[in-house]
Amino acid sequence: MQRRTFIKYNALAALSFTPLFADMAHMHDMDSMSGHNHGAHDSSAHAVHNAHHTDTSFITLENENLPLINPKDFPQNKPLAPLTLLSNQSKKQGEFHASIEIKEDSISLVKGKQTRVFTYTDTRAKSTSFLAPKIEVYEGDRVKIEVKNSLKEPTTIHWHGLPVPPSQDGNPMDSIAPNESRIYEFVLPSDCAGTYWYHPHPHQATARQVYMGLAGAFVVKSRSDVLKDFSESDWFITDLRLDTSGQIPANTLSDWLDGREGELVLINGQHKPQISIDSKQRIRIYNACSARYLSLEIEGAEFMLLGTDGGLIEKPIKQKRLFLSPASRVEVLIQNAKKGSFKLLSHRYDRDKMMPKDEPKTLELATLHLKSLPSALPSTLRTLPPLPQSTQELHITMSEDHSKMHALSTQSKEQIRQNLAAMFLINGKVFGMNDVDLRVGRGITHDIIVTNKSHMDHPFHIHGTQFEVVEQILNGKSEKPAFRALQDTINVRADESVRLRMKQDFKGVRMFHCHILEHEDLGMMGNLVVE
Ligand code: C2O
Ligand code: CU
Ligand code: CU
Repeated sequence: MQRRTFIKYNALAALSFTPLFADMAHMHDMDSMSGHNHGAHDSSAHAVHNAHHTDTSFITLENENLPLINPKDFPQNKPLAPLTLLSNQSKKQGEFHASIEIKEDSISLVKGKQTRVFTYTDTRAKSTSFLAPKIEVYEGDRVKIEVKNSLKEPTTIHWHGLPVPPSQDGNPMDSIAPNESRIYEFVLPSDCAGTYWYHPHPHQATARQVYMGLAGAFVVKSRSDVLKDFSESDWFITDLRLDTSGQIPANTLSDWLDGREGELVLINGQHKPQISIDSKQRIRIYNACSARYLSLEIEGAEFMLLGTDGGLIEKPIKQKRLFLSPASRVEVLIQNAKKGSFKLLSHRYDRDKMMPKDEPKTLELATLHLKSLPSALPSTLRTLPPLPQSTQELHITMSEDHSKMHALSTQSKEQIRQNLAAMFLINGKVFGMNDVDLRVGRGITHDIIVTNKSHMDHPFHIHGTQFEVVEQILNGKSEKPAFRALQDTINVRADESVRLRMKQDFKGVRMFHCHILEHEDLGMMGNLVVE
């Protein structure tokens, strides 16, 4: 099936609810693609029931034409500030104790305006900042983080990509009620050094809490790091939308369909910063955007890829462009022949959105000031053990049901909400809190084959482990990855199938979902029970 044959929603039509949805005939192709059940689950009866009684009050339908702030009014061109570290209250080696308050606050992001935001605040810090503190710990550390929820709504903290027990991983069924506290506690295993992040994961409110400001970097270091002589920095990339009054507006229909892309793309909370790099620097790049895909390039320089989500790769690999779908991370070194100033660009990636807007082809994210950097790098960064044999196969199909998206102009907002809440499916159903969607044994190497039977890209993520991509099949063509890498998130293109090899080391419930956070909230998520 060709991606291009699908009709797109007309954004203007949808937002004004005028009858421009006449030609929905093409959508039948999509209807017939969705709803197929792959893999066993005990919960289809449940799901059908759910679909008719979903509380959809979380689905905001903000006006698409809301006037937004002119990006020029947002401070820019300042030197990039490093992330502040969450303070460790323990003096003992091997222990990390900290406390975070999650709260609503007003912060001045734009001159003369106060923006209402949510923050992760280090209770030991003197002031609140918009950007969450970075957590930096070592392999083997016992981590204990006390979290106070001062929001007026439930939340959780999920440690994205980390091998922590399910009971400590901020699952939606384990939320912290308003004004309650809890302690997250886990011991990090050896060999898990890597670039992770943390964000909320409450039922149906993840997207909103993240765009209100909740997301932070989490780095696990190794005491025997081959790159320990390199200095380190972080580029934590988020996107932000502000209306003309300086407030963060709620999601529109387009946001729910395609995932929200805030107009301001920020690095460490800064717009178009100036970044000076004058030593050999290992840079950790995080795509913490809800739905924005990044295709990074530095004109006149190259990236040496050193690592992915779950830590170092085996050998450095030269890359002109870095592709980061939502939730992905990399470690890189920049190589350039000549010193000077260079632009960090993000090229447009066509993920076949339903409501394409006129988007700029290329975004300018920062200006880099580089010395001519020597490229002495160890030829081996890490040795991954031979790829294990898999003894079990699980299947996950992501699809979309467009059958009720006809003639939106004739539907009430509540009907549209109901339809949205039944549109994004995994194995033919929307997420149910108590559903058992897949089962696997603890410690068993298994393959999950993820197939995207919709017409747009969906970044697939699974909790609690790192996987290796074994094979990608698109249009009947099978491809093996060019190098081995540990990941917890992988973009799956329309009509693509990916074979992922992994194991789960703890019993309990693990979430798997699309990491476009709006799709996750709308139910493109499932439970994997590890027994
Ligand atoms: Cu980063 Cu379940 O998510
Ligand atoms: Cu996660
Ligand atoms: Cu998705």
